[in-house]
Amino acid sequence: MLLGVNIDHVATLRNARGGSEPDVIKAAEICEKNGGTSITTHLREDRRHIKDQDVRTLIKTIKTKLNLEMAMADDIQKIALEIKPHSICLVPEKRQEITTEGGLDVAGQIEKVREFISPIINAGTIVSLFIDPDENQVKAAAKTGAQFIELHTGTYSEAYGTQREEEEFQKLKNSALLAQSLGLKVNAGHGLNYENVHRMHEIPNLYELNIGHSIISRAVFTGLAQAVEEMADLIK
Ligand code: PXP
Repeated sequence: MLLGVNIDHVATLRNARGGSEPDVIKAAEICEKNGGTSITTHLREDRRHIKDQDVRTLIKTIKTKLNLEMAMADDIQKIALEIKPHSICLVPEKRQEITTEGGLDVAGQIEKVREFISPIINAGTIVSLFIDPDENQVKAAAKTGAQFIELHTGTYSEAYGTQREEEEFQKLKNSALLAQSLGLKVNAGHGLNYENVHRMHEIPNLYELNIGHSIISRAVFTGLAQAVEEMADLIK
C-alpha cells in the first residue's frame, strides 16, 4: 500500500503569516524522501491553502507524482489540463466547509462527471473520484471512465473505537471489493491517523492512502524539540 501525503496544511500554516515559511516545496521534498509515494494538494476555489503558484512549482520539483484534488469547476479544469498532474481526484467542494465533508455525488450526475473528466483523461492524467463507501456511488463511478475511486474514510475514522466502527469498516471493505470487481483501482483517505490506519491492511488491494492532517499535526511534535533546541542555542 502506497502513501500519498497531503501537504495542504503546510500551506495553511504559511498563509497564517502571509510569508513563505514553511516552504511547501521543501515539505514535498521531505515527504518524498521519507516514504511518501505521491504528493497531494487541493487547489480550493477560495485558495485558502495551496495557491496556483504552489501547484505550478510542485509540478516541476516533485520527483514522485502530483495528485491534484479539485472540484468540478471549469477554471480548475483549465489548470489541470495545462499542468497535467499525474492524477487528479475529483471532490465536492463547499465554500464554508472546514475540510471536504462528504464524497462526490457521482450517481446523481454520471453524464456530467464523464464529460468533465474526459478531456483530463485524454490529456494523460489519471482520474480518481472521491466517493462515500456506498454501492450506488461505486457502480456510478464505474460508468464514468474514471480509472480510480478514493473511498472516503472520514466516517470510519470518526467511528473508530466505537460501536459503529465495524459497520463503517465493512462499508469500506465491501465498496472496495465491488469497485475492484468493476475494474476500478481503489485509494482511500480522509481522517486516517496513527491509531485507525492499521485496519486499511484488512482491505485487499488498496492502492494508495492519502493522509494529511494527522501527519502534519504529528510533525509539530516530532519536530518541536529540535526546533526549540536550535533557537535556544542561537540565543544563548
Ligand atoms: N483525500 C481527500 C479527497 C481529501 O479531500 C482529503 C482532505 O483534503 C484527504 C484525503 C486527506 O484527509 P486528512 O487531511 O484528514 O488526512
